Amino acid sequence: MNSQPIGVFDSGIGGLTCLKELKELLPNEDIVYLGDTARVPYGTKSRETIAEYARQDIAFLKRYDVKMILVACGTVSSVMETVPIFEGSGVELYSGVISPAVKAACEATKNGRIGVIGTPATIRSGCYTSALKAIHTDIQVFSRACPMFVPLVENGYTDDDNKVTTLIAQEYLEEMARENIDTLIMGCTHYPLLKGVFAKVLGDGVTLISPGAEAARYAARMLGEKDMLCGSGGACRLYCTDSEELFAENVAAFLGSGINAEIKKCSL
Ligand code: DGL
Repeated sequence: MNSQPIGVFDSGIGGLTCLKELKELLPNEDIVYLGDTARVPYGTKSRETIAEYARQDIAFLKRYDVKMILVACGTVSSVMETVPIFEGSGVELYSGVISPAVKAACEATKNGRIGVIGTPATIRSGCYTSALKAIHTDIQVFSRACPMFVPLVENGYTDDDNKVTTLIAQEYLEEMARENIDTLIMGCTHYPLLKGVFAKVLGDGVTLISPGAEAARYAARMLGEKDMLCGSGGACRLYCTDSEELFAENVAAFLGSGINAEIKKCSL
């Protein structure tokens, strides 16, 4: 038993896809969430800058004595494959989203043709492709950087029939649809907020993998195995680095009224 909170961070609201799943799987766990909304997007920045931001995010969560940190951000997860952002942080238990998402995609695919979308930094790193190929060398991967999706999500262009988002999704996903993928890794945690649009563009035959949700499932398993779950609690504290009001609006739109969370602005 361990009553310390779980720490979760992302550049913005994308990591809420992870938090939502965590709350469902582990309703009694305390969670501290950080969305670095003042500096979103991370995905168009250099690896050095992303690593520096991530270290600050980790240091912030450390103040809350977290028992585990979930990097609910595909971009930071792609950087941490090669840059030791946790080194010297004192955090022993952590996970990114790449490996849990890749495992889920490999289990889901039937034809071995997998699409990967992500931020420019994530796709440039090639981390999803190499992780997929490490499991099955013969898997065919079709990847594409989709820089417009994060601003669309952060600005609320998320309804299934949104004309702007649909047009952009058609352009980004055209090749994958032609290549007959049967599984799509929505490789940035913001993207599952657009899953209705993706489903329309790609059709029902394509399984959509949410990296944040997969990371939450992985964390739940890991904490369970280590006997580090907590039987009581369930408080949720959300921090952002820019406007509290804007963040609260986005949180309410995404999580609905189901989660009673305290929202505060913080500095890193
Ligand atoms: N949600 C993040 C990701 O999974 C970050 C997107 C961004 O800030 O560019 O990549």
